[in-house]
Amino acid sequence: TCLWCVLPAAGIGERMGADLPKQYLPLLDQTLLEVTLGRIHQAFPEAYLVLPLHQEDLWWPAVELRFLKRYPQAKLITCFGGKERADSVLNGLNALTALAHPHDWVLVHDVARPCITQLDLQQLVTGVKNHLVGGLLAAPVADTMKRGMSVNNSHQVSATLDRNHLWHALTPQMFRYEKLHTALTQGLEKGLKLTDESSALEAAGYQPLLIPGRRDNIKITHPEDLALAELLLTHQQT
Ligand code: CTP
Ligand code: MG
Repeated sequence: TCLWCVLPAAGIGERMGADLPKQYLPLLDQTLLEVTLGRIHQAFPEAYLVLPLHQEDLWWPAVELRFLKRYPQAKLITCFGGKERADSVLNGLNALTALAHPHDWVLVHDVARPCITQLDLQQLVTGVKNHLVGGLLAAPVADTMKRGMSVNNSHQVSATLDRNHLWHALTPQMFRYEKLHTALTQGLEKGLKLTDESSALEAAGYQPLLIPGRRDNIKITHPEDLALAELLLTHQQT
């Protein structure tokens, strides 16, 4: 079986509030997108990297040139993203219809998570490799978790949840090509709110594996996250 990497990069970074999409913001001496792509390519040098990009993306050509100068062997496929993240991932899978076999693995990783380590990537692959469907990196919840409810324009506690069973869903998430393709297609047709791949497989009746991952695999979402990522990247031994 083959491994394909789908790296959704078609978001506009609204919460970042910058004048260009966050994946193109500087991070150390590169852009956020290049750091993430580089880490995935280093872990899986043989794998195709599939990048769903925004229809009006202006920045990819320059980044691609720099990336291929650094990694001339990298195999890149681009396609258009869609309205939501799940649409972008499905477009990425559709770009592989003529290439991928049903049983192949697809690793999906947000380009907005540059702090992914080589060890976590290997742990995910090793953890799911004999599984029927696949799984995801996840981190056990450390804080006490409250369920809130809205009362007169404010929020009050309605319950404390049992933290022992709660995990933060991270990326990468890794699934068999055909099962992921079918689950995403059907989930989107049904209008389900799919914020990750696992939720699509869960809706299809599967129980993906939770593979413990590092808590510093943060998603760059708000402006202050960039400085934190720089700090983490500087101190990490990937
Ligand atoms: N993404 C995508 N297609 C979309 C929306 C998001 O490919 N229609 C990608 C983003 O580029 C990012 C990942 O999915 O790599 C996670 O999404 P998120 O962190 O929400 O990024 P944005 O959607 O760009 O940010 P925001 O929600 O603040 O606009
Ligand atoms: Mg978003």
